[in-house]
Amino acid sequence: MPLGFVNPTHTRPRVMSGMRSTGRLHIGHLIGVLNQWAQYCETADAFFEIADLHAYTTGFMEPQSIREARNELVLDWLAAGVDPQRSTIYLQSDIPEISELQLLLSMITPLSWLERVPTWKSQIEQLGQEIATYGFLGYPLLQLCDVAIFRGEFVPVGRDQVAHLEFGREVVRRFNYLYGDGETILIEPQATLSDFPEVPGTDGRKMSKSYGNTILISDDEETTTKKVRSMVTDPLKIRRNDRGRPEVCPVFFMWKFVKPGHVPVVEEGCRSGALGCVQDKADFAEALNAYLRPIRERRREFGADMAQVEKIITDGSAKAREIAAQTLREVRRAMKLA
Ligand code: TRP
Repeated sequence: MPLGFVNPTHTRPRVMSGMRSTGRLHIGHLIGVLNQWAQYCETADAFFEIADLHAYTTGFMEPQSIREARNELVLDWLAAGVDPQRSTIYLQSDIPEISELQLLLSMITPLSWLERVPTWKSQIEQLGQEIATYGFLGYPLLQLCDVAIFRGEFVPVGRDQVAHLEFGREVVRRFNYLYGDGETILIEPQATLSDFPEVPGTDGRKMSKSYGNTILISDDEETTTKKVRSMVTDPLKIRRNDRGRPEVCPVFFMWKFVKPGHVPVVEEGCRSGALGCVQDKADFAEALNAYLRPIRERRREFGADMAQVEKIITDGSAKAREIAAQTLREVRRAMKLA
């Protein structure tokens, strides 16, 4: 993040990000995004959103599970070190100003821009024609409104979200051009990627709930060890003494963030054949559990007091709403509605 960036309305950089409430988070989220969120609590003015409306765009048939995922999602964030004292955690559907902004911006959003966003076609292919709704088409616009209403400058996300942010920047430019009268009313947000924007799952494909290849933050140690044991490695390294290729092995990839200091040892052992995959995976399961232990412990502690978690969300939403209302007022004024 370029330090020294000063926004007129606040001195720390404003960071905004969110996740849909669709289920428990895995270590891909942890490494890819949440570690960044936790750091931003120290250095930025951070807003983190439970994107429950976004969850409805594809999960509208299952409102109950979206509802239940809400607190679990926040527990995973808190476990990862997101500090509720130094950030604002809030619920998207509690901020109706976001939805109003979406309606207003929809007036200037060409249909072709939305249809061009890659997730529109690819998700329909994957999930079926029934998600081809007006609401789902507007997904990236709603996301832009999430960010823009808080004047978010930086948006820590995984790689799959970069196209949404690019789309959002175009809408902001168009808005400022049409209604800004030479001024910047809305800010163009910028995606920030972590060092590990994409983490491989146990089968070597991208870690994702839909592939069933995840290791959850909330898994217990035994489950974690079992999942690690089932991980794929270099398919050409069949026997222990075979020389391996760490660059194709998801276990090796994960060593890099779980215990970076150990990477050279694993690399040398794998390439020379001295280290077998069974041993490597046993070592790795142990290192991964050790890495996750304090995180899981924090999850248990927060989980013991769900009333406190709900209060974090309610308080955060009240604070977020004030800021959102201010931006919306300015947008309405710029559009000659007020
Ligand atoms: N679309 C994001 C995802 O699937 C979630 C999200 C919703 C988001 N609103 C956001 C991310 C605003 C960043 C900023 O991961």
